[in-house]
Amino acid sequence: MQNAENEEILRKILRAIGDVPRNVYSPSDDTFLMLDALAKVPVEGKKVLDVGTGSGILSLFCAARGAHVTATDVNELCLQTAQKAARALGLSIRVILSDLFSNVQDQFDVIIFNPPYLPSSTIEDRAVDGGPDGTALSKRFLRSLADHLERYGTALLLVTSLSDAASLFSAGIPQFQYEVMAKRSLFFEELKVLSVRFRDNLAR
Ligand SMILES: C[S@@+](CC[C@H](N)C(=O)[O-])C[C@H]1O[C@@H](n2cnc3c(N)ncnc32)[C@H](O)[C@@H]1O
Repeated sequence: MQNAENEEILRKILRAIGDVPRNVYSPSDDTFLMLDALAKVPVEGKKVLDVGTGSGILSLFCAARGAHVTATDVNELCLQTAQKAARALGLSIRVILSDLFSNVQDQFDVIIFNPPYLPSSTIEDRAVDGGPDGTALSKRFLRSLADHLERYGTALLLVTSLSDAASLFSAGIPQFQYEVMAKRSLFFEELKVLSVRFRDNLAR
């Protein structure tokens, strides 16, 4: 992260989160790449939805920069962890137990999702297992995105070279276009954050 102010915000957030419970995803390389991408998005005064919040780190980073944040997860412990850190930081976020958008009604200016994306024959760990080609949840996310993204909104979606990211946009979601906002090569994979927007005139 290049901006000193953002780095300071992040240090405070990491301190407030502390050691996460065993079943909560601990901020990792993918999380930090998402933060790099998020730092480039103006979120002050914007409605932000953080799908699969985990420790709450992405939500807290947006809330600290003046966004109105809703955080979801299928794991209640994640929501408790995020709320606890928000209270410690004096920030306010709304949390919703939800399978993707199932319990979410509103539309948002910015929607972020660092999904479970590891190719896996079965879903044993919901924090990381993404089904046979790693894209099952991301595809479901993209299929419902149009109902929740504002007309000029942006979604940030993390993808990995380990899964077939190109197939994500092939069928069924012609209303979206995407570009790569941030990327990082790791030892065994390349991670990318895609910024996803409606194609001109194709909202909803
Ligand atoms: C890779 S972790 C990312 C956590 C956090 N956003 C971060 O960047 O560090 C994926 C998160 O998605 C959550 N998750 C898994 N399936 C989900 C679903 N169907 N709906 C909402 N969240 C889900 C997991 O519980 C986990 O917290």
